[in-house]
Amino acid sequence: MLSNKRILQTILATTLVSGLIYGPAPLSAAEEQTQETSNWTIEDASGIERTDDNTAPYIEPDFEKMAPELHVWDTWPLRNKDGSIAKVNGNYVIFSLTAPGDLLPGKRHDVATIRYFYSKNGQDWQLGGKAFDTENAYGARQWAGSAMIEDGELNLFYTATGHKGEENVTYEQRLALAKGDVEANGNSVEFSDFDHSIILEPEGEYYQTREQSEQGDISYAFRDPWFFEDPKTGEDYILFEGNSAGTPADRSLDQDYIGSESFRNGYEVEMEDFAKLFNGNVGIARATDESYTEYETLPPLLEANYVNQELERPHIVTKGNQYYLFTNTHEHKFGPGVDGPDGLYGFSSNELFSGYEPLNDNGLVLANPEDNAYQAYSWMVLPNGKIISFYNFHDLDGKNISDLGATSPEYQMSHFGGTLAPTIKLAIQNDSTKVLNSSKPGKIK
Ligand code: FRU
Repeated sequence: MLSNKRILQTILATTLVSGLIYGPAPLSAAEEQTQETSNWTIEDASGIERTDDNTAPYIEPDFEKMAPELHVWDTWPLRNKDGSIAKVNGNYVIFSLTAPGDLLPGKRHDVATIRYFYSKNGQDWQLGGKAFDTENAYGARQWAGSAMIEDGELNLFYTATGHKGEENVTYEQRLALAKGDVEANGNSVEFSDFDHSIILEPEGEYYQTREQSEQGDISYAFRDPWFFEDPKTGEDYILFEGNSAGTPADRSLDQDYIGSESFRNGYEVEMEDFAKLFNGNVGIARATDESYTEYETLPPLLEANYVNQELERPHIVTKGNQYYLFTNTHEHKFGPGVDGPDGLYGFSSNELFSGYEPLNDNGLVLANPEDNAYQAYSWMVLPNGKIISFYNFHDLDGKNISDLGATSPEYQMSHFGGTLAPTIKLAIQNDSTKVLNSSKPGKIK
C-alpha cells in the first residue's frame, strides 16, 4: 500500500507514559511522530476474496433474541482507560444501539437509543435499560460509540445524529460525550447524573462537513467515536468514521489512490467521476484536556479514496509493537471496479499515525459466507481477539440486500436477527489473521 506523498503533520508527543498494559517501549518525551495518512488503494482492494481463513461460519437462523422486545445492533463493551474490558460490581457491561422490536429493521436507525446490558460471566446478558435519559442527550437520536470508566466515572462517547425536535429525520452527525456516575446496586449496575457535551464536529479540511457532502456526494459520515489511550505515549485519542473533505468538484484522482507503479501502469479507473464519490476515511483527534471534552483534530489515519464510501466503527487493538486498525464496511460501499463482501477489514502499522498496510495483503479479515452474505455486521475486535457483532439479515433467498426494500414487511421482519451474533475468535500473527472458531452469541470473555 502506498502512503500519501504529502507529509501532513508532525506531532510532538509531549506526554510521558502512564498505565501501560501492553509491551511496547515508551517513546521518550517530545519524540517526533510522523503523521502521514495511509491509503487503502485500488490495488490492495482488488485482491479481496473470501478464503477459509477469513470466512465466518454460517449462522443458523434458530436463535433466541437477547431482548425479545427490542432490535439490538451495534454493541460495545465498557472498558477501562487502557482498553481492557472493565468490571463494575462484579459485572461486565455492554452498550448497544436498540429500537422497538416491532419496527421495520431499516427504520431502526431513525430512532436508535443506547441501552445497556450487564452480566456476571460476560456472556449471559441482562437488560439494564436506557444508558441515559435521552431528553438530555444531544441529537434526535444516538448512534454508536464507545465507553470507558475512570475513577468510578462513566465516559460514554456517542454520535449525536440529527437535531432535537426536528420534524423530519435529518442526518447531521456530531461526536458527543456523556459523563455519568456509576451505581452498583445489589447485583446490578445503574448510571445516573449525566452531563452531555458535543466534543467534535467536522472542520471541512480533513473531514467532510454535511454542507460539503450535499454538493453532490452519495452520503456523509462523522460518527462512531472510539476512545483510545495510546500505550506507547499515554496520549488519549478519539477515532471516528469520516469522509475525506471537500466537495466532489474539489477532489481529483491522486495516483497513490490506485497503487504501486507497476499496477498503475495501464490501469484505468472505472467511471472516474462516480469513483470520486467514494471517500471514506478513519479519522482521529487528540484529547487536549483531562475530562475528554476538548480535542485537536488530526489528519486521518487511513483514507479509501476512490475505493470505499464508509469505513465504519474504526477501532484499534495493540499487540506487541503493532497497532491493528479495524473497520467495517458493506459490499455496496465499494467504488466502481472494486468488490468486497460485507466484512471486517484491518490494517497494521508499528506507528499510530502512519504506515498502515492492509492485513492479509488486501484488508479482508472477516467476511460473511457467500451463501449468507448479510448474516452479521458491525464487528468489533476485543483485546482478547474475540470479535462481537450483531445478527443482521439471514437467508435472503439469493436476493441482494438492496432489493430488501421491495419485499413485504413480514419478509423483512422474519429475516432480521436484531440480536448479538455468535462471537468469533481471531488469531493475529504479524500481518495475517485467521478466523478460528465461533462461540456463544455476545460472549466477550
Ligand atoms: C453501523 C452503523 C454505525 C452507526 C449505526 C447507526 O452499523 O452505520 O456507523 O453508528 O450503524 O445505526
